[in-house]
Amino acid sequence: MPLRSQPLAAVSATVEVQPAPEAGAPASVPTHVAIIMDGNGRWAAARRLPRIAGHREGARALRRTIEAAIRSGVAWLTIYAFSSENWRRPAAEVLDLTGLLRHYLRHEVAELRQNGVRLRFIGDRTRFDPDIQRDLVAAERETASNTRLNLTVALSYGARAEILAAARRVAEATRDGRLDPATLDEATFEDFLSTVGIPDPDLILRTSGEQRLSNFLLWQAAYAELVFLDVLWPDFGEEHFAQALADYARRERRFGARPA
Ligand code: FPP
Repeated sequence: MPLRSQPLAAVSATVEVQPAPEAGAPASVPTHVAIIMDGNGRWAAARRLPRIAGHREGARALRRTIEAAIRSGVAWLTIYAFSSENWRRPAAEVLDLTGLLRHYLRHEVAELRQNGVRLRFIGDRTRFDPDIQRDLVAAERETASNTRLNLTVALSYGARAEILAAARRVAEATRDGRLDPATLDEATFEDFLSTVGIPDPDLILRTSGEQRLSNFLLWQAAYAELVFLDVLWPDFGEEHFAQALADYARRERRFGARPA
C-alpha cells in the first residue's frame, strides 16, 4: 500500500503565515504542538485488519498533520512515534513498526527536506538497527538548515529515562568540576535534556480518547495545555488539528501566576 496520499509539496504553494501576536495579546497559535498519536491498533481491529494496517494509516495521518502544522503557522511539532515501552510489544509488531520507520526514513525525508522541515530525533536510538541509526543521523544532517517547521520525532523515548540520563550527566559534570551544584537551576538542567534548544510544548494533544501523558515530555509539559480528542489517530486530519488549535486559543494561560 503506498504511503503517500498526495505530495507534501502541494503545501508549499498554499502556506498561510500566521501574523505574530501583538505584544501583550494572547498568543492564539501555539508555537509548539506535541502529539501522542494513539489508536492505530483499535482502528485496525475495528476493520478486522492487522495492526500494521493501522500503523500504515497512521503514517498517512502524520503526513496530513505535518501539512496542517505548516499551514497553521506552528513552528515546532513533536510526535511520539515509538515509546521505550513499545519494545515490549510482540516481536512481530516491533518488526513491523521498525520496518515502517525504515521505510519512512528512506522515502519521506527527501520531500520533508524540500518542504523546509527540519528533523530531530529524541530517545534511545542505540536500540535500533545500525542502518536505521545511520538514516536518523543522515536525516538530521540533511535537514539541519531548514526553518519552516521543526519536526521532532520521539523514538524509543521515555521521559523518566530522559530525566534520569540528564541527572546522571549533571552528577558527572559536578564530579569532574565542570558544574558548580550551587549554580544548577532549571535552565542549566534543561541543557542536559534531549530537548535542549527546543521550546517547551504549548499544547499537547492525544488522540483516541485516552487521557494520560504516558511518559511523554514530563519535564517539558509543566505548563502545556492538554487537549484529548476522541478520534483514532489514523482518522486524524486537518479538521482535528484545527479543532485542537481552536480549543487551545480559548484557554487562558497563566503559568502559575494570578490573572491580572
Ligand atoms: C499508538 O497506537 C501508535 C504507535 C505505537 C505508533 C505510532 C506510529 C505511527 C503513527 C506510524 C508513523 C510514524 C513513523 C515515524 C514511522 P496503538 O498501536 O497503541 O493503538 P491502540 O492503543 O489502539 O492499540
